[in-house]
Amino acid sequence: MKIIAVKDRNFWRNRSVLVTGGAGFIGYALAHKLAELNAKVTVLDIKSNLPAHGRLRSDIAFVRGSVTSKKKLHWIFSRRKFKTVFHLAAEAIVGRSNNNPERALETNARGTWLLLEAARAHNEIEEIVVASSDKAYGSHEKLPYHEQSALRGLNPYDCSKSCTDLIAQMYAHSFGMPIAIVRCGNVYGPGDTNWSRLIPDAFRSTAKKKVLDIRSDGKFLRDYVYIDDAVDAYIALAQKMRSKLLSGQAFNFGNNDPLQVVDVLAYIGKADPRLKYRILNIAKNEIREQYLDSSKARKILGWRARVSYATGFKQSAKWYADFLG
Ligand SMILES: NC(=O)c1ccc[n+]([C@@H]2O[C@H](COP(=O)([O-])OP(=O)(O)OC[C@H]3O[C@@H](n4cnc5c(N)ncnc54)[C@H](O)[C@@H]3O)[C@@H](O)[C@H]2O)c1
Repeated sequence: MKIIAVKDRNFWRNRSVLVTGGAGFIGYALAHKLAELNAKVTVLDIKSNLPAHGRLRSDIAFVRGSVTSKKKLHWIFSRRKFKTVFHLAAEAIVGRSNNNPERALETNARGTWLLLEAARAHNEIEEIVVASSDKAYGSHEKLPYHEQSALRGLNPYDCSKSCTDLIAQMYAHSFGMPIAIVRCGNVYGPGDTNWSRLIPDAFRSTAKKKVLDIRSDGKFLRDYVYIDDAVDAYIALAQKMRSKLLSGQAFNFGNNDPLQVVDVLAYIGKADPRLKYRILNIAKNEIREQYLDSSKARKILGWRARVSYATGFKQSAKWYADFLG
């Protein structure tokens, strides 16, 4: 099958776009790519400080506020006539969600329905893409996950993303809203400064000449998707939603080549031979294996992960070395 280019410049030129969570890892990269495609981008994020690695481009408007504030959401939707909305704002860290499940649910469940309620009042919006996650599936014996697999997250973060996903489906199904859902594997690459995640933690430990502690037995299996491929996934889905009648649908985005933690460490060690780690094997209540079947995204959107692990980890190593000095 011929794989087509996923980005259509004409589609994005002068298009008014909202990116919630646009000061975070994926949202920041997405907002920048959209601005490069000449979209008129507004970012809504609760952070007062923008990412340590960069400022937003001067042509991206930044609004500080929470997706849990009805007032702020109605203000932003009435001020700007958005055609496309990407909803990525979330409590996106597993450990923080375990420590504070209330905040994870408040942000990821209530924040989603408040955002979609505000969008519902503004029917000029043509497409809304909501960030769910592979974690929304929870634990399944039969892998890979397909889009029709049940959503049954049982840990705080997983459950909050199952909620995000189902709420998005409910608004599409019951109110005919133009909503599609992204279920992506673990995203990695330049710009991720969420240090509790495996890959940023590994590069930072290396830079600081510290031994990296691995909480699992090193055998947990996950999909890893390079940041540029993840950004392409969001863009491809938004672009094709109307022409291909994708409203209410979810898409998996993975690499079709899941890695164990030790495989990830081998790639990082190849890119930066200073890496030292020890396996603690103390992780509890974590799903051992999860990975996605992404053939639907390939068939319908023409999307596939284009960046190989070798390239992705090499580029990441360079970025973290520059960033961490
Ligand atoms: N990074 C991954 O591996 C991955 C994989 C699958 C799905 N996701 C999903 O993708 C999205 C982005 O993830 P990320 O890795 O960029 O995380 P991130 O933590 O870097 O970014 C999330 C952003 O949301 C903002 N935010 C949090 N609460 C908010 C609120 N109440 N109102 C407004 N903004 C708020 C944060 O300040 C942050 O800038 C999330 O929805 C996450 O669940 C991430």
